[in-house]
Amino acid sequence: MQKLSNILVTGGAGFVGVNFIRYLFERTGFDGRIVNFDALTYAGNPAGLDDLAARGFGSRYMFTKGDIRERLAVEKVFDDNEIDSVVHFAAESHVDRSILGPDDFITTNIIGTFTLLEVARKKWKERDDVLFHHVSTDEVFGSLGDEGYFSEKTPYDPHSPYSASKAGSDHLVRAYHHTFGLPVTVSNCSNNYGPYQFPEKLIPLMIINMMDGKPLPVYGDGRNTRDWLYVEDHASAIWTIMNKAKTGSTYAIGGDNEWRNIELLNKLIKIVAENTRKNPDLIRKTIEFVKDRPGHDRRYAIDSSLLKHDLGWRPSFDFEKGLTKTVEWYLQNLNWVHSIQNGEYKNWYETNYVNRNLHPG
Ligand code: NAD
Ligand code: DAU
Repeated sequence: MQKLSNILVTGGAGFVGVNFIRYLFERTGFDGRIVNFDALTYAGNPAGLDDLAARGFGSRYMFTKGDIRERLAVEKVFDDNEIDSVVHFAAESHVDRSILGPDDFITTNIIGTFTLLEVARKKWKERDDVLFHHVSTDEVFGSLGDEGYFSEKTPYDPHSPYSASKAGSDHLVRAYHHTFGLPVTVSNCSNNYGPYQFPEKLIPLMIINMMDGKPLPVYGDGRNTRDWLYVEDHASAIWTIMNKAKTGSTYAIGGDNEWRNIELLNKLIKIVAENTRKNPDLIRKTIEFVKDRPGHDRRYAIDSSLLKHDLGWRPSFDFEKGLTKTVEWYLQNLNWVHSIQNGEYKNWYETNYVNRNLHPG
C-alpha cells in the first residue's frame, strides 16, 4: 500500500499543479504534507497558492524553488522532507514554444524526468510503499482522423518536439518500473481548461485578447479538434489513480468532450459577451484565421473507459458550466493575468505571434 503522506509535487506553481494542490487540500481528506518543487520559469507562479497558509494549511504546505535538472537540489528536497511519493507535473508544456525553441523541452522533460527517477530509485531503494506518478499527455499518441479514440493501447506517434519529449519521459518512467521495480503510475490526459492557466494557451489567450480588444488568432481552418477536461477533473483522476491503481499501470484521461477550435471560440465569445457589456458580433469580427501551426495535430479524443470501469472515476464538470466558471475567473482575476504577462512574455508574444505567425493564412 502506498503511503502518499509526504508528497513532492514538481511543477506545482504551473496551471495543473496549482489546481492539483488546491484540490488535494480543499476537496479530499488528504492530511499529509506537500512540498511544491518548481523552478518558476515564465509559466510558474506560486502566488496561486498564497492563501493556503492563511487558511490553516500552512504547516502542511511548503514551496521550494528548484530545478528538476539539478540532481543535488532534487536529492536535498527528498532528504529534507522524507518524500514518499512524487507527482511529476514539471515540464515545458507549450507546443508553439517547442517549435520555436526545443532545447528546454529536451532538458526539462527528458533529462529532468530522468534525474527525478534516478534520485527516487536511489533514495527509495527496494521500498514498495512509495509511488512516482508521472503526469503526461494524449499528444504522445499523435493525431486522429475523423473517427476513433486514443486509449492506453494506442501506439506512440508524437509529432512535435513537446510531444516527443513527453513520450521520451513516459518511456523512461515505465523503464524504471520494469527494470528497477520502481513503483510508478502514468496518466495521459487530454486538454485541460480552468483557472490559473498561462494566457498563451487557447482558452485564456482568447478570453484575454477579447478583453484587450486584440485579434483572436485561429490557426489554419479552425477545425482542429480537442477533447476538453476541466482541470479539477484532471486532478481528481490523478488522485484516483494514485490511490487505487496497481503500480506499473497507465490510464488515459479525457472529458468525452470534443470541440472544433472555432466552435469553442464561438462559445467563449458568447460567454464573455454575457459577462461583460461587449457586443458578440463585434468580438466575432476580431477573429483572424492565421498561418497554421507547423505539424498541427488534427484531432485528439480519449477513451477513458478503463479509468471509469477499473477505478470508478467520473468527470464532474459539465462543459458549459466549466467554461462559464473559467471565463468568470479570468474576468475577476485580470490583475493576476497582467502581473504574469511580464516583459519576457510580452516580447515573446509580440515577436512570435504578432510579427511572425499572425497574418491571414
Ligand atoms: P505549465 O507550463 O502551466 O506549468 C509547468 C510548471 O513546471 C511551471 O510552474 C514551471 O515553472 C515548472 N517547470 C518548468 N521547468 C521546470 C524545471 N526544469 N524544474 C522545475 N520546475 C519546472 O504546465 P501545465 O499545463 O500545468 O502542465 C503540467 C503537466 O501536465 C505537464 O507535464 C504537461 O505535459 C501535463 N499535461 C498538461 C495538460 C494541459 O492541458 N495543461 C494536459 C495533459 C498533460
Ligand atoms: O492535449 C493535451 C495538451 O493540451 C497538453 O499536453 C499541452 O501541454 C497543452 O498545451 C495542450 O496542447 P494544445 O496544443 O492542444 O493546446 P493549445 O492551447 O496550444 O492549442 C489548442 C488548440 O488551439 C490547438 O488546435 C491549436 C489552436 N490554437 C492555439 C492557440 C494558442 C489556435 O488556433 N490559436 C492560438 O492562438
